[in-house]
Amino acid sequence: TVELNQALLALDWLLGTWESDEPGEGNFPSIKPFHYIETLNFSHVGQPVINFTFNAFHAETKKPMHRECGFIRMQPGTNRVAFIIAQNSGLVEIEEGDLTGQQLNLQSQAVARTSFAREPHVQKISRVIQLRSDGRLEQSVSMATDNQPLMQHLHITYRRSS
Ligand code: HEM
Repeated sequence: TVELNQALLALDWLLGTWESDEPGEGNFPSIKPFHYIETLNFSHVGQPVINFTFNAFHAETKKPMHRECGFIRMQPGTNRVAFIIAQNSGLVEIEEGDLTGQQLNLQSQAVARTSFAREPHVQKISRVIQLRSDGRLEQSVSMATDNQPLMQHLHITYRRSS
């Protein structure tokens, strides 16, 4: 096994696989509230980069739903973190923010999409990912679209599975 790159030691608590412990909650003013389950994986190959995949499934049917994958980098010598993200919906984004203890506060810096992506288009995304003192990982995602100001879309907690 390769050692975690020095540049990412502050994010070692993310590494591994996380499974939602109870179904996450999805909301937005323009949609029907829903539940989902999700598996996260964070890995590395010794580069100053963490590789990640987020795979969401329907809470009852287990049908695959939203998927994201990407890379995490840190600005050397700072607590500045960047997520470079591709989503199966046709969206790509850069999120940046600060690491404070074991909490990441991220805001989209750039959002782009396929020319034929479904409307309404996402204009802004912010998320908080944190390791709680009870050992669970928690993620909240807010978004703004063409039609709605920044508002929560997702909230979920995970248990480490490996
Ligand atoms: C709806 C974006 C993650 C499930 C939507 C809509 C947008 C969106 C723009 C349409 C809102 C509207 O019609 O006003 C995003 C973004 C995500 C994300 C940017 C990640 C950063 C997820 C995840 C799930 C999910 C993880 C879990 C299954 C849904 C569902 C709907 C929805 C079920 C309503 C039905 C539909 O429009 O397909 N999302 N979403 N989303 N999202 Fe997400």
